[in-house]
Amino acid sequence: MTSYKELGLVNTREMFAKAVAGGYAIPAFNFNTLEQMQAIIQAAVETKSPVIMQVSKGARNYANGTILRYMAQGAVEYAKELGCEKPQIVLHLDHGDTFELCKDCIDNGFSSVMIDGSSLPYEENIALTKKVVEYAHKFDVTVEAELGVLAGVEDEVASEVSHYTKPEEVVDFSTRSGCDSLAISIGTSHGAYKFTPEQCTRDPKTGKLVPPPLAFDILHEIEKKLPGFPIVLHGSSSVPQDEVDTINAHGGKLPDAVGIPEEQLREASKSAVCKINIDSDSRLAMTAAIRKHFDEKPGDFDPRQYLKPARENMKKMYIHKIVEVLGSNDKL
Ligand code: G3H
Ligand code: 13P
Ligand code: ZN
Repeated sequence: MTSYKELGLVNTREMFAKAVAGGYAIPAFNFNTLEQMQAIIQAAVETKSPVIMQVSKGARNYANGTILRYMAQGAVEYAKELGCEKPQIVLHLDHGDTFELCKDCIDNGFSSVMIDGSSLPYEENIALTKKVVEYAHKFDVTVEAELGVLAGVEDEVASEVSHYTKPEEVVDFSTRSGCDSLAISIGTSHGAYKFTPEQCTRDPKTGKLVPPPLAFDILHEIEKKLPGFPIVLHGSSSVPQDEVDTINAHGGKLPDAVGIPEEQLREASKSAVCKINIDSDSRLAMTAAIRKHFDEKPGDFDPRQYLKPARENMKKMYIHKIVEVLGSNDKL
């Protein structure tokens, strides 16, 4: 058993309480690689922001659980080396799908886990979440649950249509499951293709796709029913057009990729939404920089030559999210 406390990590409890009260959201950035981890920590330290480093089941399989544990410990020490006296860093399991996976993460240094029972029948979702909560709380690990289904692909759970969270269920669900935070469905979805062109309108001036707005009415109803309770938004990448254009200009093929407009995420951050998940934007920033590099310098083959600009581009994106969208800067 390795407690996250030995690694210098924190759970989400105090972080979320401050974020809800302060009207900002904590960034939850997915990572799989050293360069992503370095960029996340550099961005968090430079902006004085708390940060959640999260790994999916797939990321854990890719990177190896033992290596990840030491990367998280390394992240804390790296933040201190960069001048942050008291880093607030969470290592979080994203979209855990079984009790066993959550337990394994809790036993191996994670300070927060998500149990995603959103594809299960309501009562089964409660029962599974409760089981994880009972185990996690013994070790002061916090638990995120999900109610409602996002469109798109959630790890291996596929859902073609989105089922918005039903506000009338949230009090019963959170009370009976004991979860510490709740991911809801209000129209976001995973990946770089969040909406089909048919679901969007076209801006007559630019010809770009304009996605339908998020269901803020549902968010506000949930807030009224659960005052002060931490709410989580998944699928919150904005899919920046300049990164998509760079990828497409340098041999990529991402036609009609579309994300969540930043002004809507800015608005959500001011509400009870206190954790915003971003993965695809990091993938796009990395890919855009690498594609551009290879196109301009076809003779390069040392990974450091193209991973360095990739890391810088991700860091720029993380800083932008923290300062311009989520407002979690200057909170340490
Ligand atoms: O919500 C899913 C995250 O973007 C993680 O994706 O399962 O490909 O690592 P992944
Ligand atoms: P994006 O695909 O929009 O980055 O969402 C990531 C996410 O929700 C991870 O759980
Ligand atoms: Zn997600």
